[in-house]
Amino acid sequence: MKKVFLYGNWKMNMLPVEALAFCNDLLTRTKGGLYNAASIEIALFPAYISIAPVVQALPDDGIIRGGAQDGWFEDRGAYTGAVSMDMLRSVGCTHVLVGHSERRSIFGDTDALVGRKLRKALNAGLVPVLCYGETLEEREAGLTTKVIERQLKSAWEGLDVAEIAGGRLTPAILLAYEPIWAIGTGRNARPEDAQEVCALSRNLFKERFGPDADCPILYGGSVKESNSAELLSRPDIDGALVGGASLKVESFLGIYENYRRAQAEGGIM
Ligand code: PGA
Repeated sequence: MKKVFLYGNWKMNMLPVEALAFCNDLLTRTKGGLYNAASIEIALFPAYISIAPVVQALPDDGIIRGGAQDGWFEDRGAYTGAVSMDMLRSVGCTHVLVGHSERRSIFGDTDALVGRKLRKALNAGLVPVLCYGETLEEREAGLTTKVIERQLKSAWEGLDVAEIAGGRLTPAILLAYEPIWAIGTGRNARPEDAQEVCALSRNLFKERFGPDADCPILYGGSVKESNSAELLSRPDIDGALVGGASLKVESFLGIYENYRRAQAEGGIM
């Protein structure tokens, strides 16, 4: 049975009080049964101001973790509005998204900036979740492979194996393939297309860091209860980065539970 990584990106939603109510509900519904450290890892990515209260509300059992949606690549200084990776780590945050498409398209994060953030996250002892994916125009023009290669290679340019091989947590890094046209649109990638890009990503990772190197690869883009079994059963999709459906405990956990149900009924991996 493969371990599933269920990561929830709340974006700019939920007040701190709502975030805490979510955590309480989540903790009640994830007691025992399908929820143990061997079968699932959950990470929540609240807005900055909710990270500390969320992390404090979560037990340190390795099943549910707290992350940030972004972080800056310098330790301190005149960067109005920014939060450093060290600051995130200091409040108990363990994970950080890097290169989310909304950071790239709305806030102007370039491939080079994403690379600097990735390195800084690793050096600060955080687990980066490197997000990447093509636009609809790029897919239709047959450029998907080229775009994915460019985004991944430029993000990890200059990193060496030791940097991605181990920090205080395992895995030390995750990839999240999120085709831009599938994010927040209700239109997910076909499981076979998502699998193809995730397999390509794993090959690129191994090519770059050696045949023994590996990391979990998430698919993101309109993942919900009704499509999770098909997506998560693909061999190179280890989990989901979920936006909209992560805002309610029921729909968030339904993604995982539906997959396990389908698995128990047979027919999928
Ligand atoms: P979505 O968002 O699940 O609402 O499509 C995914 C993401 O942006 O990570």
